[in-house]
Amino acid sequence: MTKVKVAPSILSADFSAMGEAVKKVEAAGADWIHCDVMDGSFVAPITFGGQMVKNIRKLTKLPLDVHLMIEHPQTQIKFFADAGADIITVHYEACKKISDGYLRETLQLIKSYGVKCGAVINPDTPAECIYDVIDLCDMVLIMSVFPGYGGQKFIPSALENVKKVREYAAKNGKNELEIEIDGGVTTGNAELIRQAGATVLVAGSAVFGADDMRAAIGYIRGEI
Ligand code: DX5
Ligand code: ZN
Repeated sequence: MTKVKVAPSILSADFSAMGEAVKKVEAAGADWIHCDVMDGSFVAPITFGGQMVKNIRKLTKLPLDVHLMIEHPQTQIKFFADAGADIITVHYEACKKISDGYLRETLQLIKSYGVKCGAVINPDTPAECIYDVIDLCDMVLIMSVFPGYGGQKFIPSALENVKKVREYAAKNGKNELEIEIDGGVTTGNAELIRQAGATVLVAGSAVFGADDMRAAIGYIRGEI
């Protein structure tokens, strides 16, 4: 299994000072930068699009992890790939509405740009729903809150999805599959999450709201 990484979510940063926020988390030891893209339809709020990712790309060498909470994700992949995303994840629930094959096609489209890809499931979506695309995935993102807002409470049943995906991946020779968890991660629950088999822990409020960002990232990664 790969080393545990912490991906601060810039959703919890001050959008009017985004560049400073990105530099600050990088200096505090972040592994990846998690970019939450919301379209006002798949989820109620609107955040930002490819332009923001393009501008952030110039400020950091860290991998940019783009979480698309949008309808019709295929229409946006080119913009985020061209903007310099390192990994793009798309929701099973948004793809399923369009057709049974849409998620697989979208993952293939992401890969066609040389970008890593992943499928995302909401807390009430059973892990089994995405087993048939794990062969294509570099990562599976398990939501531990319903998407849309930072600062929500962790839903513990998401750990069952983490365990199931880790088990399925192990059985199918995909030990290198990254499993990311997103929503309500804190310095208090990170250990349980790592033990369940997650390797990328997204943290918005727990990092941006911390007095000592470096310590918060260290705790979540399991170093302190
Ligand atoms: C929720 C987003 C999360 C969110 C996490 O829709 O996908 O990435 O920013 O924020 P916290 O860590 O505060 O729950
Ligand atoms: Zn996210």
